[in-house]
Amino acid sequence: MNRKAVLITRGILPEVVEALSKRFAVEHNAEDRPWAPEELAQHLRGKHGAMATVMDRFDEALLAQCPDLKVISNIAVGYNNIDVPAATRRGIRVTNTPGVLDDTTADLTWSLLMAAARRIAEADAYVRRGDWKIAFGVQYFLGQDIHHATLGIIGMGRIGQAVARRASGFDMRVLYNNRTRLAEADEKRLNARYADRDRLLAESDFVVVMAPYSPATHHLIGAAEIAKMKPTAILVNSARGGVVDDAALVDALRAKRIAGAGLDVFEGEPKVNPGYLDLRNVVMTPHIGSASRATRIVMCNTAAANMTAVLEGRDPPNPVN
Ligand code: DGY
Repeated sequence: MNRKAVLITRGILPEVVEALSKRFAVEHNAEDRPWAPEELAQHLRGKHGAMATVMDRFDEALLAQCPDLKVISNIAVGYNNIDVPAATRRGIRVTNTPGVLDDTTADLTWSLLMAAARRIAEADAYVRRGDWKIAFGVQYFLGQDIHHATLGIIGMGRIGQAVARRASGFDMRVLYNNRTRLAEADEKRLNARYADRDRLLAESDFVVVMAPYSPATHHLIGAAEIAKMKPTAILVNSARGGVVDDAALVDALRAKRIAGAGLDVFEGEPKVNPGYLDLRNVVMTPHIGSASRATRIVMCNTAAANMTAVLEGRDPPNPVN
């Protein structure tokens, strides 16, 4: 029997590749070098399924070169790398991995929030450089208190809610803004109050952006929004590059219009706006929100299950279209 052909576009966990190889003819980019669009198109030739990452752009031009493709299974909850309407028109199923990375991404979001508030990266660099000459200073690395502060979450989906849940340990007041307001019972459970965006920006000590990227959320936080924040506030973005206007944020951080930022995602990543690099009031990580070993295993297995279902004629557990 001819086995269906699948492509895994980046290096993933070997045990997942091994399991898939029992069912499918697998081509795996074990080298993990990201392919340029033309290379990706070449590797997709004759493939029925693709397990992909957010770095692989599936636009109309690429899909037109993949007549055999039946499913794009993103190893991610986000899918802004895929032109979903174009895939739908071609009868290609798109799937993602929701639910399995909420806690891990919320943990990283809090790591950035706390690192920015307490100037951890800056203090770490100071110790490493050998600049720590006097054991204790009353004015060393003064940061912001997290406990009893106001946390504002923009985008109250699953990950936003996981961020909110963690705030109770710090006795924080939680405001949120979302396209649709949560049910009263959920607001109670999360101890979170709905606020319009301007109020949230004006009253929050920490603003966490958790909205997915789309044309509607492009530069959701730009110069005008940052101007509404407190001068002592900290902005955290672990959602998607482009939701925050990086150039505007660099200007605001440089002028100390806000106190700091924690960023896991960037416009045009892996390129980072060079303006960030010499700023001490920003802490940055390279898009590692869901990067715990346990979560990445579950993400790979979930993506594999989605792709397998479609190729075996079943409905995938996590359909996008
Ligand atoms: C996601 O799941 O969308 C993460 O950003 C990883 O790509």
